[in-house]
Amino acid sequence: MAWVADAGPRWWSSAVVQQVYLRSFADSSGDGVGDLAGLRSRLPYLAALGVDAVWVTPHYESPQEDHGYDVADPRAVDPLFGTLADVDALVAEAHGAGLRVLLDLVPNHTSRQRQWFVDALAAAPGSRERARYLFRDGRGPGGDEPPNDWGSVFGGPGWERVVEADGRPGQWYLHLFAPGQPDLDWSNEEVRADAEQTLRFWLDRGIDGFRVDVAHGLVKADGLPDDPFPQVMTESSFPTHGSPQWDQPGVHEVYRRWRRLLDSYGPDRVLVGELWVRDPERHAAYVRPDELHLAFAFQLLEAEFTAAAWREAIGDSLAATASVGSPVTWVLGNHDVARMATRLGSVEASRAAQLAMLALPGPAFLYAGDELGLPEVDVPAAHRQDPIWERSGHTAPGRDGCRVPLPWSGSAPPFGFTTAATAWLPQPAAWAALTVEAQEGDPLSTLVLVRGALAVRRALLGGPLAWREGLPDGVLGWDRVGGSAPVTCVLNPTAAGVEVALAGRLVLASAPVGYDGTTLELPPTSCAWLSPA
Ligand code: NOJ
Repeated sequence: MAWVADAGPRWWSSAVVQQVYLRSFADSSGDGVGDLAGLRSRLPYLAALGVDAVWVTPHYESPQEDHGYDVADPRAVDPLFGTLADVDALVAEAHGAGLRVLLDLVPNHTSRQRQWFVDALAAAPGSRERARYLFRDGRGPGGDEPPNDWGSVFGGPGWERVVEADGRPGQWYLHLFAPGQPDLDWSNEEVRADAEQTLRFWLDRGIDGFRVDVAHGLVKADGLPDDPFPQVMTESSFPTHGSPQWDQPGVHEVYRRWRRLLDSYGPDRVLVGELWVRDPERHAAYVRPDELHLAFAFQLLEAEFTAAAWREAIGDSLAATASVGSPVTWVLGNHDVARMATRLGSVEASRAAQLAMLALPGPAFLYAGDELGLPEVDVPAAHRQDPIWERSGHTAPGRDGCRVPLPWSGSAPPFGFTTAATAWLPQPAAWAALTVEAQEGDPLSTLVLVRGALAVRRALLGGPLAWREGLPDGVLGWDRVGGSAPVTCVLNPTAAGVEVALAGRLVLASAPVGYDGTTLELPPTSCAWLSPA
């Protein structure tokens, strides 16, 4: 069914989306791992929080070598997480509660257990089966050297050598992530058609859209040349511009095709790219009107928590996307980076940062648990599961510290997350003070702050951002004047208290502030929303 484009803003252009790391949200089956039925049981929590949508990390059939980002069948549900009926029920119940559901699409690579890859290993070099992946002969005598010098984002080389049917060492295959995640060859039409079949499969079931994993990585430079930046390994620190693995021009054609496909389902289905592309103009190219609807702007997440760095990150992102007519999608946390409360130095800083982000124009993504102010956990080495820990030779702890299951209730682990004795990653005993139950009863809690911010945002905020000039050094402020009431956001990321001359009424603050209607006293690392006089 085609639809006629209209100029009105769509739901996603100012939505707040809660990212649910499925393994760590809520467990209903009692195996210590979060699942779809657990998520369904907590939909009332998400509705009460006030978000518009939920993004669910991969629930597909998978050997879980990278916790679901290694997909063995993109059109089947892993029994660990439930059944297809659970997905249908999730969509129906979420929609009933006023929430949309985004799934996580993983197009860059598959699991090594996907039938395609099993077939590729069994087939000969040059075969149709191998052509779906990036198999190449090695370099040097006997082909003993990898085909190029690309590394894996998770550490170590980006190539794995296979054993051919005759028992001899053979070709190599590319895996930008773990060896269990072979990269697909996106110049292959069969690969493109299969991804579109996956999109339709879920869209037909009523899914509202997708977060697209490694959206800048699908297409590789012709000929797979050596990497001019071979020393850089981690996903969030590689230079994307000029690297042959990332941000290749050919990837845009993929998204033009997908956009046409989504548009055929109406104007409300959405594609959100995970885009580690630093240059604002190159980033904006992905959200041109006929490509992805949205793309994470990691600029803010990566910026130092200072007024100057935030102003630059916000200003550059807004300017670049304005040139293509798209909003900026803000994000301060996810399952790949250290928890915000630890990264920014304190819970106070994370409260201030979240309040400030929620005052920006455009959609925002919140990582479940950040609304509780959860800190990064130093997961004991024996419990670490992220492949980065092994691949780095135990030099990088990996991402388990931000993936510890949520504390819901009670005074001891597993805090209502599961009926099993322990969750899949151990929760700190100190989280007793941070449970949803504890915070719901505390008007000064981070949970109550975020709920309040979402309610005010929904009721009042609108219009573009206009910077407030002349604020004290180190302080950042902006106005939003197009909503049902004007709101001014003032952020003090510094370690000192400041006084700001501003006439109006206090709406919300991340910390106890002093205000007499004309002078705002902001404590260190705090943020306030005012309704100006
Ligand atoms: C990005 C995902 O967020 C991360 O968790 C995953 O390991 C990589 N992509 C590979 O799929």
